[in-house]
Amino acid sequence: MLMACASVALATGAPALEPMPEAAAVENPALVELGRTLFFDRRLSGDGTMSCATCHDPSMAYADGLDISMSYPTTSNWRNSPTLLNVGLAPVLFHDGRAASLEEQALFPMRSAFEMNQDLDYLEQELASVPGYVRAFEAALGPGPITRGRIARALAAFERTLISRGSRLDRHLRGEADALGAEARAGLALFTGKAGCIRCHHGAALSDYAFHRTGVPEHPGMATDPRMGATVRYVGRLAGYPDYAAITEDPGRYLVTARAEDWKAFRTPALRDLAETGPYMHNGVFSSLAEVVEFYNAGGGPGADELIIKPLGLSATERAALVKFLNEALGGTYPVATPPEIP
Ligand code: HEC
Ligand code: HEC
Repeated sequence: MLMACASVALATGAPALEPMPEAAAVENPALVELGRTLFFDRRLSGDGTMSCATCHDPSMAYADGLDISMSYPTTSNWRNSPTLLNVGLAPVLFHDGRAASLEEQALFPMRSAFEMNQDLDYLEQELASVPGYVRAFEAALGPGPITRGRIARALAAFERTLISRGSRLDRHLRGEADALGAEARAGLALFTGKAGCIRCHHGAALSDYAFHRTGVPEHPGMATDPRMGATVRYVGRLAGYPDYAAITEDPGRYLVTARAEDWKAFRTPALRDLAETGPYMHNGVFSSLAEVVEFYNAGGGPGADELIIKPLGLSATERAALVKFLNEALGGTYPVATPPEIP
């Protein structure tokens, strides 16, 4: 029955869910291995306290379990650290889409004053002083100096291996009859039907990777923590936002495009492995999937795009089924990277 619905949707070109593609051979294993080492190396931060794994902890599904992510000492972050699982599928990175590739993205946290706060001219020299790195970069990328571009390529190659496979949803979509229990199947039917989630959450990652206004409330820290205010003004200034000194909330995609319709629009996130990656939304304001479902059931928050985000009228039983689906159907198995020996 559900399978029939899915194929009808495919036939008419409407958005559909897809299983995660099968694993492809890794092109350059030496580059992936170098990326894994860099990912855990605290030298990438200015004060040597933080690595990428600090905020994207492999034992926490490559997130950090906080509403607002950690930050450089004495500063505050302003957004939630997303999981890096399946990030290789994303054509655009960050909650507001301000990076177009993993290579481009990797330099942001290193440079960011409220994240790793590292000087990249210095980092290149610092890594060049480590014989193990000189050998590893040459083995992976051939002769040449250690540049920020090469550092970013290695990190990106590692991140592309972080795919989660074999979830109950994948097994269901591939035709396994008992992959989902009755309640999760009812939740899936709501997801693709009455609740309309599939309009934005579709494909293998359950995301259209587009930007939408759902009206997620501002994080309370934006009003109460002056350091978060400093961070949003700093990011605004870097983004060339004309009135950066007056920003008191997260402008979302508007920061990148300055188009009115992008005010507080955020990128649709992938929905895989959700049970392990809370709190949810760009600022972690919802700590459970039940809260997320209540939010959508009420028609999102103030400022939501009323053309697509409307009150859903789901009964308590239906809301429970949707939560069950989100919790149980989307978790797969994925590589949990362990810290290598740092050269
Ligand atoms: C201090 C915490 C912190 C550190 C350290 C950190 N990140 Fe992040 N990362 C974040 C936060 C917060 C975001 C979301 C920021 C945004 O969207 O504006 C993010 C976003 C990302 C994204 C985009 C994910 C997506 O779904 O679009 C990638 C990829 C990423 N980080 C990789 C890295 C790499 C590689 C490193 C190390 C060089 C790193 N991060 C270091 C906190 C951190
Ligand atoms: C109009 C497009 C759209 C629709 C329809 C939609 N979503 Fe979303 N979803 C988004 C966007 C955009 C975000 C990110 C919002 C933010 O971070 O402020 C999001 C975030 C989420 C998150 C948080 C994921 C995370 O890792 O933080 C969950 C869970 C979610 N949606 C589930 C659903 C469910 C369930 C439905 C159906 C009831 C639904 N969505 C309908 C666009 C949509």
